[in-house]
Amino acid sequence: MGRPRRLRVVSIVGARPQFVKAAVMSRAIRAHHDEVIIHTGQHYDAAMSAVFFEELAIPAPEFQLGAGSGSHGQQTAAMLVGIEQILEAGRPDWVVTFGDTNSTLAGALAAVKLRIPVAHVEAGLRSFNWNMPEEINRVLVDRMSMLRLCPSETAVANLASEGMQQGTHLVGDVMAEALEMAIPVARRRSTILATANVRDGAYILATVHRAENTDDPLRLRAIVDALNALTEPIVLPLHPRTRKALDAAGVGLAPHVRVIAPVGYIDMVRLLIGARLVMTDSGGLQKEAYWAGIPCVTLRDETEWVETTECGWNVLVGASSERIVDAARTFAPAAGRPALYGGPGVAATCVSILERASA
Ligand code: UD1
Repeated sequence: MGRPRRLRVVSIVGARPQFVKAAVMSRAIRAHHDEVIIHTGQHYDAAMSAVFFEELAIPAPEFQLGAGSGSHGQQTAAMLVGIEQILEAGRPDWVVTFGDTNSTLAGALAAVKLRIPVAHVEAGLRSFNWNMPEEINRVLVDRMSMLRLCPSETAVANLASEGMQQGTHLVGDVMAEALEMAIPVARRRSTILATANVRDGAYILATVHRAENTDDPLRLRAIVDALNALTEPIVLPLHPRTRKALDAAGVGLAPHVRVIAPVGYIDMVRLLIGARLVMTDSGGLQKEAYWAGIPCVTLRDETEWVETTECGWNVLVGASSERIVDAARTFAPAAGRPALYGGPGVAATCVSILERASA
């Protein structure tokens, strides 16, 4: 049997982690089909957006909506209006959405109301914490999707327990491929260790950006206290949301915490592979740390990537100063590190599932 007809796919991106996922998916889609990228403009600073397109050679978005920041309602509504117009005019065969941001929600909602089928990459993840905007987005987007492409068996099981067996596929994680390709490039090209004034294997890489940590002064304070209490160098690429929260709270960081501007993907990968330990509230970085073999201390009370904790490479410490400091000093990963979330070829699998579902 030959290849099915050429599909017309619209991919929706807007925030940093989506650029990484779209880079891999876009290549796989464009190998046999037509793709149009809509950038919602959720992330708009050059360091949060343009640098990812350059480094990951993502095709320039055909549409830039410039939705920008704002309340959840304002931001999502602006995206929804813009995406709907484009989809209505273009009537693609599929809309592909990634992860759990407001851009994911707007893309899926615009499409499903126009009866354009939605494929959700990174489906089925759950934190079971309904206070997280991401959890709301995940649940709603999965419900609206015709194809749910899951990174883990846990994700498949989560969807089954919500009655979504049909259209659910275990494919693995597209981010693994991006990381594998970026590691040699990062080793060759990145000079970020010198910029941050740290040596390979002798620093902690920390990131903090989740609303649950940045928008709660007590949690933010506790995390900062823990970073300040540690003595080894800590590199902290600072998300603009966190910078604003720190400024507003008047909280200062000790000199061993090397605060740097948000970094692009290649520099982030270099910081990751050189780190002794990762400390983060990011979802993506928990997986990347696992793949790179760097132990991870997660500044959250739960994780969607439960396999990384079950394997003994990730520990949840919430926003408790003592637990953070203790884990940073004593956490040692398990001896074995089984393969998790698939390897290369995940994006191609996603595309073949789209093809089959279109036949
Ligand atoms: C969003 C996602 C989160 C994801 C993260 C990745 C939602 C609900 N959250 O969070 O799941 O992990 O992206 O980074 O979609 N800002 C700038 N410049 C930018 C972008 C943002 O200064 O280019 C500042 C603005 O003050 C803005 C704030 O950061 O209000 C938060 O941005 P927003 O898009 O609301 O969400 P993120 O915190 O980035």
